[in-house]
Amino acid sequence: MKTTVSIIKADVGSIAGHTVVPEPLLKIAREKMKQAKETGLINSSFVFNAGDDLELLMTHNKGENNEEIHKLAWDTFISAAQKAKQLKLYGAGQDLLTDAFSGNVKGMGPGVAEMEFKERGSDPVVVFAADKTEPAAYNFLLWKIFADPMNTAGLVIDPRMVCGFKFEVLDAKKGRTVTLSTPSEAYQLLALIGTTEHYMIKKIWRNDDDEIAASSSTTKLSLIAGKYVGKDDPVCLVRGQSGFPSVGEITAPFLHTYLVAGWMRGSHWGPFMPVGLKDSKCTVFDGPPRIVALGIQIANGELASDDAGNPLVVDIFEDPAFDLARNEALELASHLRRMGQFEPARLSPEAMEYTTLPQCLKELEPRFKEDE
Ligand code: F6R
Ligand code: MG
Ligand code: MG
Repeated sequence: MKTTVSIIKADVGSIAGHTVVPEPLLKIAREKMKQAKETGLINSSFVFNAGDDLELLMTHNKGENNEEIHKLAWDTFISAAQKAKQLKLYGAGQDLLTDAFSGNVKGMGPGVAEMEFKERGSDPVVVFAADKTEPAAYNFLLWKIFADPMNTAGLVIDPRMVCGFKFEVLDAKKGRTVTLSTPSEAYQLLALIGTTEHYMIKKIWRNDDDEIAASSSTTKLSLIAGKYVGKDDPVCLVRGQSGFPSVGEITAPFLHTYLVAGWMRGSHWGPFMPVGLKDSKCTVFDGPPRIVALGIQIANGELASDDAGNPLVVDIFEDPAFDLARNEALELASHLRRMGQFEPARLSPEAMEYTTLPQCLKELEPRFKEDE
């Protein structure tokens, strides 16, 4: 039997402003997940937050895009949003863009990453969740992990990986996808995914046997809502070891920081800062954009758990090994903030096209006159 790992997330309200999901909302989500386990809908779960985003990590046997699983997530978000409304939390129900569930949370606001696979003898997975950024923030990371032999020694040393990987890339503006294989098409892949405004990696498979290796959420909230409603704050699942990049190769790109789009009002370049769960809150200029990484093992359809049934989760970035990246991120953050509203600290107008900037400029329109 195959196991499915699903992570479904939404911002349904936070405290204060867009900083962090408060405990009462996490508690509701944990309760809903517990009930779903009792009815046998899911096998196990882990609830956490990436800044102001509520994250539901679940394992089950129902496959990807399953209506019951997506409905469970939707109903959980609705319940948490109701609590957020009661507490008058900020942005209560923010990412729930429609009134009624219609079979799948895709296109309704929440972000989803899912993988279905036949379990190996042992199946490590790294779960990434980010706040104040967009799905293309994972382009650089996934490139490093799956296509850069200077990062991933296994691409050179592990005979099961020298065949390389296949990348499914979404052109979010045109709603179409293309699949490219590395190493043979590495440069074409880079030509696409370096353009983070348009292209984002959806899925990765091993060339050798088409085994699923990674899956990332590619929701573009602004494209769904037709206006700026917050960045998409993406999630990503990556399988590790025994013919996949090792967990250490998956985390090695975060020896350093890199810049991603998002941060304040989804309109600025910001350094991606790896943090442990305790620091998963966006404080400075609503950021800097933060990313958490959880190490889990999939065991017989479940998250490997202790005797009391609590999932065994490693909070990977809660480690001094990532202090350098954090310090670099803060250095860069301070440089960028000195530039305020000037490009390149601020995103280009194209990247901001769904924001409220055009509305602010509209009033100036009648005052422009022909340059003599
Ligand atoms: C970014 C984000 C925040 C808000 C900012 C303004 O994704 O959510 O940076 O854009 O705090 O929020 P409003 O417009 O709600 O006052
Ligand atoms: Mg928010
Ligand atoms: Mg968020």
